[in-house]
Amino acid sequence: MSPLFKDMGVGLGLRPAHHSLFLEKTPASVSWVEVISENYMPWTGRDFGRSLQTLLKVRQDLPVALHGVSLNIGSSDDLDVDYLKRLKRLIDAVDPAIVSDHLSWTGVRGENLHDLLPLPYTAETLELVTAKIARVQDILGRQLLIENPSTYLEFTMSTLSEPEFINEVLKRTDCGLLLDVNNVYVSSINHGFDAKTYIEKLPADHIGQIHLAGHSQNDGLLIDTHDAPVCDDVWQLYRWTTGLIGKKSAMIERDGNIPEWNELEQEILKIHEVRSEIAR
Ligand SMILES: [Fe+2]
Repeated sequence: MSPLFKDMGVGLGLRPAHHSLFLEKTPASVSWVEVISENYMPWTGRDFGRSLQTLLKVRQDLPVALHGVSLNIGSSDDLDVDYLKRLKRLIDAVDPAIVSDHLSWTGVRGENLHDLLPLPYTAETLELVTAKIARVQDILGRQLLIENPSTYLEFTMSTLSEPEFINEVLKRTDCGLLLDVNNVYVSSINHGFDAKTYIEKLPADHIGQIHLAGHSQNDGLLIDTHDAPVCDDVWQLYRWTTGLIGKKSAMIERDGNIPEWNELEQEILKIHEVRSEIAR
């Protein structure tokens, strides 16, 4: 059964810098928010921190997506059941519209490396990732969305392309895809593939959410730093993608050099503009 995703319109990755604005009055340009799950989950053996109260106040007005960075779905480590139980507590408290994490690994032998690291796309990795996603969905009692990564190296041992790997994961687990258009662009420049061909290979009906973000450049590599405005090439790719797959819940991720609201809102309004050009 294919998943169905509601188009929630235009959203924002809500960060502490925006809390006071959103607590005062929800900006009319934003119809949902995404937060980083780990910033609101309770610590092991503890109750929720005060940040949850802020989130619940925002939640009174807007749907919330929970976006995790530590699921570690690609690691050879077993799933961290304690982490999943704490995530489940947050899900029960917030009733989120979407729960997502990344197609990557973030640690091994119990160590969290605090980075989203790339995977070799092999039959063995596919078995590992699909078994773990199926178990995560069982434990959480809901569908997970996985995000395509931005990568800075590729494995010569890979036997599948990234879109082939993602297609297999979606088919085998019925999870959804969080399509990060900037990640596709960053990887396409770093590895020299065609970004549109990559996106054309993805199943549109499995795409439940879109990320847009800025990146930086270091020694010829594009790095997914979320500390700059979305670049013109990524806007063009997003416009083309929306024409291809239709309107999907789309949002801005900004984690560094966060500008004043009026400036950040220009990017939110630009998503509105792109979506208004699309008939469906
Ligand atoms: Fe992203």
